[in-house]
Amino acid sequence: MVIGGTGMLAGACQELAGRGSRLSVLARRPADLGPGVTCYPCDYTEPDSFELAASSAIRQSGKPSLLITWIHATAPNGADQIHSWTDPTRHIRVLGSASANKAAPGRSEAGVEHVVLGFVVGPAGSRWLTNEEICEGVLHAVDHPQPRTVVGVLEPWEKRP
Ligand SMILES: NC(=O)c1ccc[n+]([C@@H]2O[C@H](COP(=O)([O-])OP(=O)(O)OC[C@H]3O[C@@H](n4cnc5c(N)ncnc54)[C@H](OP(=O)(O)O)[C@@H]3O)[C@@H](O)[C@H]2O)c1
Repeated sequence: MVIGGTGMLAGACQELAGRGSRLSVLARRPADLGPGVTCYPCDYTEPDSFELAASSAIRQSGKPSLLITWIHATAPNGADQIHSWTDPTRHIRVLGSASANKAAPGRSEAGVEHVVLGFVVGPAGSRWLTNEEICEGVLHAVDHPQPRTVVGVLEPWEKRP
């Protein structure tokens, strides 16, 4: 199950579906991500809408073996909510660069694997990650379970774009 999988993570969803996984993707607008992917429209800032979509996906496909969450700060409890509703075997939470400067996650994050999105520094300056780089990093985390995966770099922080 991928929350927020129709934007920058669409390529990762397609890759996972191509490997034979049955994928449920939750986002506001449905998108055609190809065979094996079912979209469940919802607004994750509205718990009723979010929970209804999650329960529909579970009814259709069962409890997820893998939950990937990409949830904006507009839903600060969204990752915890979907985790408790779905009780996934694994949970990979994708975090924006700003989270790298925040305190370590609380107890509710125990066991959740984090993918922190950084930036790229080159001779001509720095830039944010492309969708392809983000998908590659998330797929690397899927294939190599570890508590924290950084895509790109987070230091020196003052060199961020
Ligand atoms: N460090 C970095 O380099 C870095 C970090 C973050 C982002 N970015 C870049 O910034 C671009 C834009 O980022 P983005 O955050 O807009 O990501 P995005 O992945 O392109 O879009 C957000 C995803 O979350 C869904 N979503 C958003 N609000 C929702 C809500 N209230 N309820 C349910 N689903 C919701 C969207 O579905 P709907 O479209 O249907 O709402 C979509 O699937 C990305 O393409 C990426 O390349 C770079």
